[in-house]
Amino acid sequence: MPTKVPAGFLWGTATASYQIEGATRADGRGPSIWDVFSHTPGKVQAGETGDIACDHYHRWEEDLDHLARLGAGAYRFSIAWPRVQPTGAGPVNRAGLDFYDRLVDGLAARGIKAVATLYHWDLPQALQDKGGWPARDTAHRFADYAAVVAEALGDRVSTYTTLNEPWCSAFLGYASGVHAPGLTSPLAALRAAHHLNLGHGLAVQAVRAAVPRAALSVTLNLHVIRPASDKQEDHDAARQVRAVGNEIFCGPMLSGAYPEDLRADLGPITDFGFVRDGDLDQIRQPLDWLGINYYSSSQVRRRPPGQTAAATSTAGSGGHGGGNPWVGAESVEFLDPNPPLTAMGWNIDPPALTELLVDTARRYPGLDLAVTENGSAFPDTLEPDGRVHDSKRIAYLEQHVQAVAEAIRQGAPVKGYFAWSLMDNFEWAWGYSRRFGLIHVDYSDGLKRRWKDSAHRFQRLATTGV
Ligand code: FCB
Repeated sequence: MPTKVPAGFLWGTATASYQIEGATRADGRGPSIWDVFSHTPGKVQAGETGDIACDHYHRWEEDLDHLARLGAGAYRFSIAWPRVQPTGAGPVNRAGLDFYDRLVDGLAARGIKAVATLYHWDLPQALQDKGGWPARDTAHRFADYAAVVAEALGDRVSTYTTLNEPWCSAFLGYASGVHAPGLTSPLAALRAAHHLNLGHGLAVQAVRAAVPRAALSVTLNLHVIRPASDKQEDHDAARQVRAVGNEIFCGPMLSGAYPEDLRADLGPITDFGFVRDGDLDQIRQPLDWLGINYYSSSQVRRRPPGQTAAATSTAGSGGHGGGNPWVGAESVEFLDPNPPLTAMGWNIDPPALTELLVDTARRYPGLDLAVTENGSAFPDTLEPDGRVHDSKRIAYLEQHVQAVAEAIRQGAPVKGYFAWSLMDNFEWAWGYSRRFGLIHVDYSDGLKRRWKDSAHRFQRLATTGV
């Protein structure tokens, strides 16, 4: 590979609690919205659930050994709120918290930095029963929970990440409904977005108060949206999607305001009356770095007047399923992606990652960046000799690491790269049908872990930088 990342660059892998842990009833864990959603017929492909998943809850030592062998310097994992507070509020469930206590000690023992995400989509169901993220109180409950975790794990966690992809939580959870809790209300999604922003800001403050030395970050899935032509209307379609896909979080979190164009676009749906005096000051908190998840790019154009959404493709579903999550931008048409595509139907566009990193660095000078998720699903074949020759995943990995190196060469302060994912896991609405792992998990043979060829490739990157 031509360009090398600088010395000290952090190589890691990423996972999320509901996708790997299983043991959903162990040690006093309460139900999350994903337990309820996945057990609702028709919501997840083949009716699959995270009940067992990769059983990481019991096999975490073996998994950390794999991580160490891969040469990872950091591990990005998430903490299941309903293990720590089974009803999302009040008394702490010590047995649940102890799991993460063991995990961070296990990472330290292997010399691997812990990058802990406080919320990767598994909201305690009890809080959803009280309104979920559209209810303001959830932001305060989130800050309380963040304080509990920070007090318990302290500086054994090197970075606390407040939220993973709040866009998905708000718009896939409450607008298109393809993710838990599966609601389809544009206004609820916008309220959720604001309360996720508020929860982020309050949680940053809570963690800092508890662990002054901890680094703080948030992970956003910033969408790279290209206009289909040079026509003004297509540029405006792209701007509109960026507003409700990216700026709705970057604006408040990084600049302390919802952008005017976003407010104008959403005017027919809401007057933003849920934003109270002082909220924006709470939300905009200094961060140590920004996490960016990147998989693919999109092309959009303004839909011709009179043409309905149903007549066009499902390309605009936001990546994880059907439906239209683009609240306020219903007149935007997403073009079918250009091949080659991954098993998710996502295009492969490494230059877009370079652009995204360079552009974000330019917009927010002084803010370090890391790619906190990047990876690909392909239909893997387990060979009789136990190997998985996943050459397409290797090519995807190499091209995107090159794209990161190129962004650094152009001046973007990118400090790390986390491959999604350490191992195959529960891929939300797709169940176990989509495999993103560097490590193969054999769901029909005792969840046996086997290194794919891409794991060996990652190991070489992590240990030699090329
Ligand atoms: C991201 C999610 C992650 C995984 C990947 C494929 O949006 O953060 O949990 O599902 O997509």
